[in-house]
Amino acid sequence: MEILTNYQLKSFNTFGVEARAAYFCHIKSHTDIKELFSSDNWNRPRLIIGGGSNILFAKDFEGLLIKNDLKGIKVQDEDTNHVLLRTGAGENWHEFVIYCIGKDYGGIENLSLIPGCTGAAPIQNIGAYGVELKNTFYSLEVFDLATGDINTFNQSDCKFGYRDSIFRSIFKNRYLILSITLKLTKKYHRYYTDYGEIKETLKNNNVKKLTIKAISDAVIRIRTNKIPDPKELGNAGSFFKNPTVDKVDFEGLRAEFPHIPGYNSEANQVKIPAAWMIEHCGWKGKRRGQIGVHDKQALVIVNYGGGKGKDIAQLAFDIRDSVADTFGIELQQEVNIIS
Ligand code: FAD
Ligand code: EPU
Repeated sequence: MEILTNYQLKSFNTFGVEARAAYFCHIKSHTDIKELFSSDNWNRPRLIIGGGSNILFAKDFEGLLIKNDLKGIKVQDEDTNHVLLRTGAGENWHEFVIYCIGKDYGGIENLSLIPGCTGAAPIQNIGAYGVELKNTFYSLEVFDLATGDINTFNQSDCKFGYRDSIFRSIFKNRYLILSITLKLTKKYHRYYTDYGEIKETLKNNNVKKLTIKAISDAVIRIRTNKIPDPKELGNAGSFFKNPTVDKVDFEGLRAEFPHIPGYNSEANQVKIPAAWMIEHCGWKGKRRGQIGVHDKQALVIVNYGGGKGKDIAQLAFDIRDSVADTFGIELQQEVNIIS
C-alpha cells in the first residue's frame, strides 16, 4: 500500500480548504488495514476520513490520514418483509440510498442527498426530515485501532442520540468502522411525511401514489433549495447542533424573545433551531473575506473559495459567542474541527 507524504487535502473536505496531511493512504481492503496496523506508520497520530463532509481542517494534520475506501454492498439475510443489507464503510451514502430505492428497500429515503460515506453515518447518527440512521440501523463492524481486533456493535451498543453516538464520546478515535448493516423494509414501507415541507413538496411534485422514490425526490428538492452543494460552495452542512433547553427555561426565553421557535423534544425539553438564534444575532448572509454565513441557511458556514480553515473556525467561535451572549445558550459544534 502506498503512503503518500505532505498530501494536499483540498479535494478531501467539502469546505474545500487547503490543508496537508504529513502522511496519507487509501484503504481498500481488510488486508490493507492489517498491513498498515503492523507497519511503523501505525505509530503516528491517526485520523480516518470518509467523504470529509463533517470535518474542518483548521490546520495541517501532522500524522497519518487514512481515507476509507472499503466498498461492497451485500444482502446478509432476508425474509418476506425485511432485508439486512451490509455496506462497506467507504460507499457513498447518497448513492447507497439511491441503490436501496432502486431495489425498493425502504427506510432511508428521507436521508437522501446527505453527503459523505456510509461508515461515517453512525458516528453522528445522521438525521434529516424526521428520520435518523438509528431507525434502520442493525449493526456495524469495527477494527479496533488499539488491538487490531474486529468487533461487532449492535443498536444498543452504539448509544445513539441526536447527532450523537458512542463513537463521538468515549470511543472517539478508538475504532475504524469497516461496514454497517441496516434492516430495511421490502414490503409495508413506513412513510415519514410529517416533517417540514415534505407534504407540500409531494403535492407540488404532483405525486398521486406515495412511494419511497417520491419521498426521496421531495427531500432532494427541498434540500437543493436550502443547502448549498459543496461542489459549488464549500460547506459542511449545519455547523452546530440544535440545542435543547428545559421547558421552564424556554418560557423564560420566550418572554424575552416572543418569536423564538421551539419544538417539544424529550420530556420537558424544547429544541430550539440554532439557525434562528444565529440569524437573530445578525449573522445570516454576513461575509468575512472569502468565507461567510449562508444567505439561505444561517446554520451553514460557507467558503466562497480560498477561505482558510482557521478563519472558518474563528467565525464559528464568534457566532457561538454572540449566541451565548444574547441567549445564554452555548451551541455545540456538529462539525469535527482538526486544530
Ligand atoms: P467525514 O467528514 O469524513 O468524517 C466525519 C467524522 O467521522 C470524523 O471525525 C472522522 O474521523 C470520522 N470517520 C469517518 N469515517 C470513519 C470510519 N469509517 N471509521 C471511523 N471514523 C470515521 N448530516 C446530517 O446528519 N444530516 C444532514 O442533513 C446533513 N446534511 C449535510 C449537508 C451538506 C451539504 C454537508 C456538506 C453535510 C451534511 N451533513 C449532514 C453532515 C455530513 O454529511 C454527515 O455527518 C456525514 O455522515 C459525514 O460523512 P463523511 O464520510 O463525509 O465523514
Ligand atoms: N431558521 C431560521 N433561519 C434560517 C434557517 C432556519 O430562523 O436561516 C429556523 C426556522 O424557524 C426553521 C428552523 O430554523 O423553521 C429549522 O430550519 P431547517 O428546517 O432548515 O432545519 P435546521 O434545524 O436548520 C436540521 C438539521 C439538518 C437537516 C434539517 C432537516 C441539525 C443541526 N440540522 O437543520 O441537518 O438536514 O434539519 O431535517 O439538526 C446537518 O446536520 O448537517 C444538517 C444539514
